[in-house]
Amino acid sequence: MTFTIIAGGFWGDEGKGKICSYLAIKDYPSIIARAGTGPNAGHTIQHNGIEYKLRMVPSGFVNTKAKLLIGAGVLVNPNVLLQEIKKTKTEDRLKVDFQSGIIERKHIEMDTKDKHLSGKIGTTGSGCGPANMDRAMRILKLARDIPELKKYLTDVSLEMNETLESGETIIAEGSQAAFLSLYHGSYPYVTSHDTCSAGICSDLGVGPTKVDEVLVVMKAFITRVGEGELPGELSLEEMEKRGWVEYGAVTGRPRRAAPFNFDLAKKSVRLNGATQIALTKFDIVFPELKGATSIDQIKGKAQEFIDKVEKETRVKVSLIGTGPSSEHIIDLRENI
Ligand code: IMP
Ligand code: MG
Repeated sequence: MTFTIIAGGFWGDEGKGKICSYLAIKDYPSIIARAGTGPNAGHTIQHNGIEYKLRMVPSGFVNTKAKLLIGAGVLVNPNVLLQEIKKTKTEDRLKVDFQSGIIERKHIEMDTKDKHLSGKIGTTGSGCGPANMDRAMRILKLARDIPELKKYLTDVSLEMNETLESGETIIAEGSQAAFLSLYHGSYPYVTSHDTCSAGICSDLGVGPTKVDEVLVVMKAFITRVGEGELPGELSLEEMEKRGWVEYGAVTGRPRRAAPFNFDLAKKSVRLNGATQIALTKFDIVFPELKGATSIDQIKGKAQEFIDKVEKETRVKVSLIGTGPSSEHIIDLRENI
């Protein structure tokens, strides 16, 4: 009976999809709600041997009993959404807020052609920035204006607040991460929306007094796609040596990489009001833990690293990701 917010810790791609899909099964939520900017995010989920790359449908769809909601603050690309609903077979349990903003072809064209957006900032080209610009101008179409979305419409804020009042569990999935926040990130190399936990509340129409847990997901090393600062950035040669080379789920661009940074972790905890930390891709930095599911398997340098994260941030590490599948997790919550 908790409302848990899941937020990205650094510059995105920390593995929120995998953490959300694990908790969606483990914690029996009645609702799994997608917050965040829109379809610029790509969440990769491996479940029962199948890999899904989702940009709109909540990663927690793997729990087939839960209701899936997309908040008013989230931009919707109807083509992407309808395709994903089909792929995930979630037609009868997914709903979109009446007031979610709509991305049209013109927004994608601007995002991919504009020199500032595609050149200087290095956006994902998914149309989010230009659509949010139209929203600020009060000319953006909303989900309620789109006939194809009619049967999916709902009042997300009302559904979530009623469900919380009846004492049921809800998981809210953010997208991107703290340092891509329009307000708190490394401006101007950020996304077009606030991506921190308070922004996630706002996207869904749930007030901060209702939040029980804020789980911030941090990868055991840091990656970034697009332009902007990345303290401690490694050369491609060094990234290859360490096995840290990754490619963007939406754009296919190679990600830049750097070692874990405790000052950034502290800042992210502060921006999000974190109550728990999930450390992902742990097996990439500590290969002896590949596929591990038990706390007893954590020893030596891996344990020292977890201790240091907890000491520096003063927040408990509650989950550790040890492989790509939703089952590859060490759940430390019983020990907290
Ligand atoms: P936009 O969100 O497409 O406008 O892109 C703005 C910046 O945010 C660019 O540097 C993108 O690479 C980055 N970005 C947006 N979404 C994601 C994501 O899901 N993961 C990682 N980076 C992202
Ligand atoms: Mg991603």
